[in-house]
Amino acid sequence: MCGIVGYIGDKPVADILLNGLSQLEYRGYDSAGVAVQTGTKINVYKAEGKLENLSSVLMQHKGEFAQSTLGIGHIRWATHGAPNVINAHPHTCNCGNLVIVHNGIIENYKELKEELEKNGAKFKSQTDTEAVAHLIAYQYEKTKDLTEAVRIATSKVDGAYALCIMHNDEKDKLIATKRNAPLLVGVGENEYFVASDVPAIIPYTKRAMYLNDNQIVTLTRTNMTLIDKDGNELPQKVEVLPWEPVALSKMGYKHFMLKEIHEQPDIIRNILVGKLRSAETPIELDEVKLNKDTLKNLNRIQIIACGTSLHAAMIGKYIIEDFCGIAVDVEASSEYIYRKTVTDEHTLVIGVSQSGETADTLTAIKQAKAKGSHILIITNRPDSAMAREADSLIPVNAGIEVSVAATKSYIAQLVSFYLLAFYMAEIKNSMNSAELQALKSEMMLVPQKIEQILSHKETIQKCAQHYANTKDFIYVARGINYPTALEGALKLKEISYINATGYPAGELKHGPIAMLDDSMPVLSILMKGSVYEKILSNSEEAKARNARMIALTNSKDEKLKDLFEFIIEVPEIQEYLSPLIAMIPLQLIAYYIAEYLGKDVDQPRNLAKSVTVE
Ligand code: AGP
Repeated sequence: MCGIVGYIGDKPVADILLNGLSQLEYRGYDSAGVAVQTGTKINVYKAEGKLENLSSVLMQHKGEFAQSTLGIGHIRWATHGAPNVINAHPHTCNCGNLVIVHNGIIENYKELKEELEKNGAKFKSQTDTEAVAHLIAYQYEKTKDLTEAVRIATSKVDGAYALCIMHNDEKDKLIATKRNAPLLVGVGENEYFVASDVPAIIPYTKRAMYLNDNQIVTLTRTNMTLIDKDGNELPQKVEVLPWEPVALSKMGYKHFMLKEIHEQPDIIRNILVGKLRSAETPIELDEVKLNKDTLKNLNRIQIIACGTSLHAAMIGKYIIEDFCGIAVDVEASSEYIYRKTVTDEHTLVIGVSQSGETADTLTAIKQAKAKGSHILIITNRPDSAMAREADSLIPVNAGIEVSVAATKSYIAQLVSFYLLAFYMAEIKNSMNSAELQALKSEMMLVPQKIEQILSHKETIQKCAQHYANTKDFIYVARGINYPTALEGALKLKEISYINATGYPAGELKHGPIAMLDDSMPVLSILMKGSVYEKILSNSEEAKARNARMIALTNSKDEKLKDLFEFIIEVPEIQEYLSPLIAMIPLQLIAYYIAEYLGKDVDQPRNLAKSVTVE
């Protein structure tokens, strides 16, 4: 998390930095800051909270940097030190001549700090980053060469970083470097841009160079030099980014989240184009580069992901095992990377990530790759670090997701899993073909069914308002919709801060039932199919403990009216495809509760869209 930007060129720098940071706000919004070269010195401006606070600070001081054409900026998601002005970046050395911005975590900052303090460094903040500022300044005193100082200093640093650095004694220079954190350099006419992500530079240039780990780039207004950690000059791979500048707009919706929920039917249609042509035509999935014989004989898949992507992965497991008879393990990336996993060259490893940058998932797929596994990445960012590690890449094409709470990327990941499962089932001939055709046929109707839900949102809104003041919320389901219950609970927690939990309905009686009383809402996901009656019985058990029962169902069963105080009806759908339908009301319940409570729906507290620290 955290986003960094830098600019060197001939244009006023403050606006470029602010615009860049506004494109990176999804990476954090605890504080923001910029440092600009004014000709005589470097001025630093910082503000706690969202970027608009920094904009106000800059407005008050705009006379001080009107001519500045060199600067760096930062948007923070706090790791070390509270989110206040002192801990906001940029950070400086003792005299303020050297300034840096940082995304990542410096793991050995305590040892570095101890050593640097002995040499006279005076620390002002509680951040890990400040150690790097003092360390580079210390090396600069010895070398009087900023690039060399950065090279030596970063060789002493453990952890992850993307850094952008400037020094008042080298007024025509900007340095950037990275290790295990994203960073790219935009190349313009006599100007260069540095950013954690493409949207910050795309309004200015489409030509860019992605930095690899431990590379150091030195930028002047007219020149770019790239070296490795040993100081050897490297060739520069400037590419044209396949991106158009997009004006991110809410299109009349109150929040991006609501807009993104409404985009889901069209996103599904777009994904299906060219891949699912008709029920009878085989699925086309050229993105999968494993040859068909290998796929036929495949007997082990591991899926790794975090958060919402992990819930999509759990549904992926369910359908791949059922349709293809292949054993699938699903694991949170943050767990996978710290144990001995049985992963080898015969395992297909699937990484799922909206951002393609999540540090834990990125590390996990690198570990799996090192063991010889074929890496298949399902991501919304085909230009991401994970995509660059992929042997097979399935872009989910959901478009930029602004809301921190993932909605449309989740549905797009699910559809990608369905296509993959259908594709493998056809190759393996592992499924009854009439059943498979019926599923493919019904998949084409899913967008319409979601539209039906979206056009009758009033009941969902009413339900949300009815339960908005509850402190806790329980979601239960079984089978393929158990991950839907988890995702419904995650959405509600994220944006309303209500303590919500998802359980397999059958597990309620093994403990959670003790929490039930007449203040606890229990939402049962009751989709018709193999476990319908079982969930109904579990719901009866909860009702018997006076819980406030809500049904999310596609059944018209009259007896539900006695059991549930609220019923949210959704269209009929084949059980296997029901997660695509059941999730929509749950997204809307979370949205309307948070909106009703006046929460910051698109940028909930403590979160960031892209989690680039382990
Ligand atoms: C989703 O609403 C969350 N904000 C979060 O759990 C997210 O899914 C998780 O951080 C994984 O991100 P990724 O999909 O970009 O890897």
